Amino acid sequence: MTSTMDDAAAVFADPTAYADEARLHAAMTYLRANKPVAYVDRKPYRPFYAVTKHADIMEIERNNALWLSEPRPVLTTAAADDAARAQLEAGGGLRTLIHMDDPHHKKVRAIGQDWFRPKALRDLEVRVDELARRYVDRMAEIGPECDFVEDIAVHFPLYVILSLLGLPEEDFPRMHQLTQELFGADDEEYRRGTTLEEHMSTLLDFFDYFSELTASRRANPTDDLASAIANGRVDGEPLSDVDTASYYVIVATAGHDTTKDAISGGLRALVENPDQLDRLRRDPELIGTAVEEMIRWSTPVKEFMRTAGEDTEVRGVPIAAGESVYLAYTSGNRDEEVFDDPHTFDVGRFPNQHLAFGYGIHFCLGAALARMEMRSLFSELIPRLESIELAGPPVLAATTFVGGLKHLPIRYSLR
Ligand code: HEM
Repeated sequence: MTSTMDDAAAVFADPTAYADEARLHAAMTYLRANKPVAYVDRKPYRPFYAVTKHADIMEIERNNALWLSEPRPVLTTAAADDAARAQLEAGGGLRTLIHMDDPHHKKVRAIGQDWFRPKALRDLEVRVDELARRYVDRMAEIGPECDFVEDIAVHFPLYVILSLLGLPEEDFPRMHQLTQELFGADDEEYRRGTTLEEHMSTLLDFFDYFSELTASRRANPTDDLASAIANGRVDGEPLSDVDTASYYVIVATAGHDTTKDAISGGLRALVENPDQLDRLRRDPELIGTAVEEMIRWSTPVKEFMRTAGEDTEVRGVPIAAGESVYLAYTSGNRDEEVFDDPHTFDVGRFPNQHLAFGYGIHFCLGAALARMEMRSLFSELIPRLESIELAGPPVLAATTFVGGLKHLPIRYSLR
């Protein structure tokens, strides 16, 4: 059990903490009660304040004139911060929606927004349902055991998002590998290598692939999200090459790994809480609240950062202009002031004001799509599931940003 402020706050500067749920939640519970705005100064990161209360995270995200995404939107090591800045100054690097502030952010977000509205999603729903059936059928074929993450959960959302982008199916395995390398930089099973150069080379591969895509969609526009991005304009001007490639990267990566983590974390929660699985089986109308609870429970995105534009304070703690806060979504989503029995998985939980999709101007663009995918997959799976149990220990990824289960061995029988 975590006993000191320093031990507790250290979890934020330790990617392996997210692979150890007992340690993580003990530390976060301690911080919410004793030091809800905690200064963390641990190498290899620059110092930041970890914000662990739901109300504070929401207030910071709401006040986007004061709290900026630039220049430090996510927690990366000081060396990676410097390398990313140098690359941007040299005209390369990654500059996605999550790196931008308004008013520019709003204009760039508008380019892709229509593809995530209810009408576009209704058009996509048939394809999503078809893919959900395909993957539950695959589960039936490969049973009675599988690694649900590797065999099912990584593929389904990737296929959905790449279908929305309009990419050919033969490119899907390559996108899968690049996404894992980009988000898995902290995990030895996923990363390309340990050096910064190797990490940056993953980015360059993404950029090469997407530069070709941009050229082809500008020459021959098609009716898909990739064409909307390639031909998008801000103040009448086409997006720069960096902004165009970055847009693809954010959609392909944000739309994939996150949903995979919510799906596999959700199935694990059902297996470990068989009363809740039974409840959902008996009452399929609970699927909406169940999906929301799976997202709160797994909280695939661990953090975003904001930097103070001027001197301010959070919960009485002074924060100077230029200092950064770490928004600990995992902690906000277990805040006992907001959620009754926050450590209980409840498929009927309502209301469920979780922060897993963030809040304010950066609120997840794909939230409705992620919910639709999860409803579709679990609505197909649960009625066909005769039995399910763990066939080995679930393994979580070491990460400071996006992550969840790497392996979920299950034994099951399906109708
Ligand atoms: C932004 C979580 C699925 C695309 C975000 C943010 C979070 C998040 C926490 C930042 C919000 C903030 O700063 O306030 C999730 C989770 C998902 C998921 C937990 C799955 C369960 C998706 C999907 C897409 C997507 C399917 C589809 C493309 C994006 C984009 C942004 C974003 C483009 C940047 C929005 C902006 O900065 O304006 N997401 N996401 N996400 N998400 Fe998701």
